[in-house]
Amino acid sequence: MREVAVIGAGMTKFGERWDTSFRDLCTEAGIAALEDANVAGEQIDALFVGSMSAGRFVGQEHVGALVADYVGLGGDLHVPATRVEAACASGGLAFRQAVAAVSSGMSDVVIAAGVEKMTDVGDSTDVLAGAADREWESFAGATFPGLYAMIACDYMHKYGLTREQLAQVAVKNHFHGARNPFAHFQNEITQSTVMNSTLVASPLRLFDCSPVSDGAAVVVVCPLEKAREFTDTPIKVLASAQAGDTIALHDRPDFSTMGATVAVGNSAFRQAKLERKDIDFVEVHDCFTIAELCAIEDLGFVPKGTAGKFTEQGETQLGGKLPVNTSGGLKACGHPVGATGIKQIWEVVQQLRGEGGKRQVEGAEIGMTQNVGGTGATVVSHIFRRA
Ligand code: COA
Repeated sequence: MREVAVIGAGMTKFGERWDTSFRDLCTEAGIAALEDANVAGEQIDALFVGSMSAGRFVGQEHVGALVADYVGLGGDLHVPATRVEAACASGGLAFRQAVAAVSSGMSDVVIAAGVEKMTDVGDSTDVLAGAADREWESFAGATFPGLYAMIACDYMHKYGLTREQLAQVAVKNHFHGARNPFAHFQNEITQSTVMNSTLVASPLRLFDCSPVSDGAAVVVVCPLEKAREFTDTPIKVLASAQAGDTIALHDRPDFSTMGATVAVGNSAFRQAKLERKDIDFVEVHDCFTIAELCAIEDLGFVPKGTAGKFTEQGETQLGGKLPVNTSGGLKACGHPVGATGIKQIWEVVQQLRGEGGKRQVEGAEIGMTQNVGGTGATVVSHIFRRA
């Protein structure tokens, strides 16, 4: 297996992009990534596109071919393009496919893209609910805010998490998002903003939820040994892990522990030959505030039941022991579902190059991502280091 490096990254601003079509979002992020990687279309061997539900959000299927065409890789170049779908983990999984293509020797320079345009439909909640168990969850009325609310209730009951501690996840992610010019929301909020916002699914309020967003993100990978032909700042992929779980939340033995996150964490740290303390910052899947707390526990950074206190003490904010979601996370940076996993990697690249601007983690050398599909039926994780 060959070692793999990220040589370029680009993203669009996330948000309500009424002015930009699905294909234009991909083109905008794709051109940014190719320019960043100093790569010409002729050098691209393959393209993987993560998109959860383009068919229902914008009525467009066959998005691998569409994206390849509009970034100039279809027509004359005939670059093979493959769509990857694993709900909100589609982006992370597209990246994993790109890594596999390069490490296996099948391809050299490969693009991993993620895209979703969600704000064109009125029933985004129902489209998203298709990523749960349609027969046993969605048909009974369980939406994603409802499912994560059940996780929050279980967690609060078991570990005594307070409503204030949960709110602090959103306050911290908005603080980070206010420092990210690509974020959907770039405003700081207070605990009372969260506590007084509209109740969505008890105990989760509006500001506990990631928003419905449009956006795209793209990264370019190649063999580590060739990376310096393209860039002075290659980012080495130290680990790539994926794990699965039951599709329905009610089939899990413990709502508050995401078994697939535990599995990817163990696998990723084993592959990277690292310990938890070696990670300088992490981008996790905070589709709802409770998910961030579960993620940092299930990845093994803090003991079960203590992430609320850890967050309350400021340890997950810039300057803390483990900065979490410096991009603003899904909560403030936004959550165009297929794009999120690639955006997490985009953020890791910015941080490891020292290009994080006002949200730079000082001395960042090793970063990690965790990207979740559904309530954890698919989880993908990667670890990166400056090469
Ligand atoms: N956080 C903060 N503000 C939000 C927000 C969020 N998550 N979502 C919307 N808003 C704001 C909008 O900017 C808008 O503000 P404005 O009036 O100042 O312009 C206002 O709230 C109303 O926006 P609207 O789009 O009408 O909200 P909504 O009620 O239709 O949707 C949610 C709110 C929480 C239901 C929706 O964002 C949602 O479903 N989120 C979860 C998405 C999800 O499940 N993703 C998959 C996870 S697995």
